[in-house]
Amino acid sequence: MKILLVCSEALPYCKSGGLADFIFSFSKALKEEGQDVSVILPYYNSIKYKFPETNKEIYDKFGFDMGTHYQGCTTYFYDLNGVKYFFTCMDRFERDGMYGYYDDTERFACFMMAVNTFITRHNDFDVVHCNDWQSAVLPLLLHYNPRHEIKTVLTIHNPAYQGWARRDDVYNFFKLDTNYFDSGYCRLNNCFNYLKTGIMASKKVNTVSKNHANELINDHLGYSGIGAIIDYCKHNDFTGIVNGLDIDVWNPKTDHNLVCNYDVNTYESGKAKNKEAILNKLGLKNDFKGPLVSAITRLSDQKGVDRLMQVFPYLKNYDAKYIVIGTGEKEGDFLYQSLPYKEVYFVKNYDENLAHLLYAASDFFLMPSYFEPCGTSQLISMRYGTIPIVSSVGGLVDTVHDMSTNELATGYVFNNSDPGAFISCFKSAMDFYLSNDPFIKKVITNGMTGDYSWKKSCKEYLELYNSITW
Ligand code: GLC
Repeated sequence: MKILLVCSEALPYCKSGGLADFIFSFSKALKEEGQDVSVILPYYNSIKYKFPETNKEIYDKFGFDMGTHYQGCTTYFYDLNGVKYFFTCMDRFERDGMYGYYDDTERFACFMMAVNTFITRHNDFDVVHCNDWQSAVLPLLLHYNPRHEIKTVLTIHNPAYQGWARRDDVYNFFKLDTNYFDSGYCRLNNCFNYLKTGIMASKKVNTVSKNHANELINDHLGYSGIGAIIDYCKHNDFTGIVNGLDIDVWNPKTDHNLVCNYDVNTYESGKAKNKEAILNKLGLKNDFKGPLVSAITRLSDQKGVDRLMQVFPYLKNYDAKYIVIGTGEKEGDFLYQSLPYKEVYFVKNYDENLAHLLYAASDFFLMPSYFEPCGTSQLISMRYGTIPIVSSVGGLVDTVHDMSTNELATGYVFNNSDPGAFISCFKSAMDFYLSNDPFIKKVITNGMTGDYSWKKSCKEYLELYNSITW
């Protein structure tokens, strides 16, 4: 099958969240399954400068009409280990950042119009797989493609971001009839909503875990009512496919960022050496008997930054240390609140090498998100022998087996709707560690030997593509 993944971010080129990991590891997995895979994304300035090899081969040059103006686009091509990357180069993306500009909806409209033109000019894709709001209107544009048999799929990675525009933008940005708005097709709360448009227009819609699919279908009021839309128009046809992990990149046995590689038989000594190394690197003393607790996250409300700060006063009771790597809108708060606690060390910058080392060095990993469609960090921590403490939401429920499952346990899952649950869960985890209970070995071993590869999920996506009929 010839598959085109359309997205706004992809590793190794650019990343703001889990979507970038998804695109990189999923495209690689599809390729390994023998599929013909392409990825198309905007050519941000940062990609152009940091990855000059992507600037060598012009693949195509074209123009297209948006409702209000004519737009030119140059497409660059780069083959990354057999996955074909296409970058749409347009004036609107020649800025430092990826998102957060006043004209984001117009910028990504431009991107979708460019991809639509690109697809029409090279019309041989079997599947066009869109991701999140930045590419969600494309399936509607493809209704007008002269080749009708293009299978369109929309994956929702984060329903909190939807792409809100105005009625007239239906024409101004996409050159579509404003009747799409007046009839209600792409209207939500009296705005033109990109995500809703994608839900209406795509052949198949899914999200990134089964539990989050249920959460969305059942929550009619959350996420501006997008769940109700999914429930009404895709009720029996909305699925959850949990994300895999790139198990070549995230492998404690071969990870070159670690000072000592280890596996399920050698994790005790291996983790101890990595702990020593990270403490050294950060100028911290290895003078505590309790666990090393960590979090690596975007410091935003979604990720439960308030909960991440709630543990500060409890750390010294357990002689624990807490290392957090994170950036985001709440980084100032986090830093300020952490100042009185010498048990807390905050790294206010994402550093890939340090992140790998921290996963390997830690005993517990905190992930108390308020919603988490899938999540990747809990998978990495289990694979690295670090026990995750997670909230009972989204993909966290599908991937972490709570202590109550006894022999199957891989971590702690606390009740997200109970305000006291996180701290009491945190305390029992700390007590468990200090008790030297031999069961801890079982929990770690279960986590380290779990199958987090893309194999099963990749098959599910191929089945989803194949299930599309006309
Ligand atoms: C988004 C979600 C996250 C998911 C990722 C990749 O970032 O918030 O839960 O893992 O997309 O699908």
